[in-house]
Amino acid sequence: MEAKLATTIILIFSVIWLMRVNGIDPCASQADNSDLNVIPIYSKCSPFKPPKSDSSWDNRIINMASKDPLRFKYLSTLVGQKTVSTAPIASGQTFNIGNYVVRVKLGTPGQLLFMVLDTSTDEAFVPCSGCTGCSDTTFSPKASTSYGPLDCSVPQCGQVRGLSCPATGTGACSFNQSYAGSSFSATLVQDSLRLATDVIPNYSFGCVNAITGASVPAQGLLGLGRGPLSLLSQSGSNYSGIFSYCLPSFKSYYFSGSLKLGPVGQPKSIRTTPLLRSPHRPSLYYVNFTGISVGRVLVPFPSEYLGFNPNTGSGTIIDSGTVITRFVEPVYNAVREEFRKQVGGTTFTSIGAFDTCFVKTYETLAPPITLHFEGLDLKLPLENSLIHSSAGSLACLAMAAAPDNVNSVLNVIANFQQQNLRILFDTVNNKVGIAREVCN
Ligand SMILES: *[C@@H]1O[C@H](CO)[C@@H](O)[C@H](O)[C@H]1NC(C)=O
Ligand SMILES: *[C@@H]1O[C@H](CO)[C@@H](O)[C@H](O)[C@H]1NC(C)=O
Ligand SMILES: *[C@@H]1O[C@H](CO)[C@@H](O)[C@H](O)[C@H]1NC(C)=O
Ligand SMILES: *[C@@H]1O[C@H](CO)[C@@H](O)[C@H](O)[C@H]1NC(C)=O
Repeated sequence: MEAKLATTIILIFSVIWLMRVNGIDPCASQADNSDLNVIPIYSKCSPFKPPKSDSSWDNRIINMASKDPLRFKYLSTLVGQKTVSTAPIASGQTFNIGNYVVRVKLGTPGQLLFMVLDTSTDEAFVPCSGCTGCSDTTFSPKASTSYGPLDCSVPQCGQVRGLSCPATGTGACSFNQSYAGSSFSATLVQDSLRLATDVIPNYSFGCVNAITGASVPAQGLLGLGRGPLSLLSQSGSNYSGIFSYCLPSFKSYYFSGSLKLGPVGQPKSIRTTPLLRSPHRPSLYYVNFTGISVGRVLVPFPSEYLGFNPNTGSGTIIDSGTVITRFVEPVYNAVREEFRKQVGGTTFTSIGAFDTCFVKTYETLAPPITLHFEGLDLKLPLENSLIHSSAGSLACLAMAAAPDNVNSVLNVIANFQQQNLRILFDTVNNKVGIAREVCN
């Protein structure tokens, strides 16, 4: 098994090396099956440019993590607060800063777009031609023979957040949403969505015609949530409610992960934990998170902090669009204290969102973090629990407490902690599978 894995890895390295010496752009390669490349948003293969003044890798992560609080606030608004028993209806709330993008083609003939992968959102949106405030790459409805606008009377229209249809009569299904401090207005339209070789005909998505602010994903967002307008729901029974992804390392440049849709080609034996559902927040992937170990110590804290409550939405979700895993404050504090204790006699400093940074030489003493889910223990590889600052030779515990001012009851297992793992979502049998997979 290991020999086979080693051979595969060597083969991959050789292929990439061959492509490079032959001058073929490895970013342009695309497997001819249902695997879709997933690449970090600021990697070399990504069409998105990193912020100019901030090009070192650690700064990028810190920069991205600093945008998490807005997403967190959004997710928390969706699930309600400690004292409220029913979640408020979400309309046009701030959501998401995405970090991983997936390559898709929209329309006929297909127009190439790199869309952010978001498991906590249902409806997709892309910038359309003529859009005010969008970047240069837009989708052109006029250039597609399969495009069609949608009217306020269609059932899909009623499922969109931030809707602004006229009270009577008909009209274009238009809506406004906010996004990480920015906002956009769009109309719901439909066209063929191509994912690798698969085509989803008449896929409904928001055609963005105006953006205010700079944080809306430049080439759109693909919603992989569980709700009615998500990719899974719109593809009918074609994927049997199953998909998985492997996110490559943030450090990876030329290699890519994948999004796999449907039961074919998924890992056959994979450890799973039940997938839970909150009727008040049907988009989110809740899991039964039962505890955390730091090294061999099961960190003590009252179990109520992790408890799933379908009525309030409290609990733990797996999310592809938040960068750094956040725990409710008492849980994070307990984890941090145990971690610091085991690293031992050094001083701890803060960088950005991270409050437990220490000189790299102490890294050998850093205990592994294990997340316990019902029926599944996930021992995080070191690259998924420590982040390095190249400038200061520091290592930091790459987790944090829920941001200030968010009276949150939600724990979020975020994408930094998911690097080089295959995460399998089975929404029919209500299971989440997690397996180690190197997809750099
Ligand atoms: C949506 O945004 C557009 C453009 O900014 C604005 O003209 C319109 O009034 C907004 N609609 C609603 C319902 O907020
Ligand atoms: C399901 O797959 C078939 C065969 O590829 C295709 O013809 C059909 O349009 C797909 N349906 C949806 C809803 O994606
Ligand atoms: C897609 O929509 C068009 C027009 O709305 C309709 O004519 C066509 O039959 C639809 N195709 C499928 C596969 O549903
Ligand atoms: C979570 O798992 C624990 C331990 O297996 C179990 O006692 C509890 O009932 C589970 N909670 C939910 C909401 O399924």
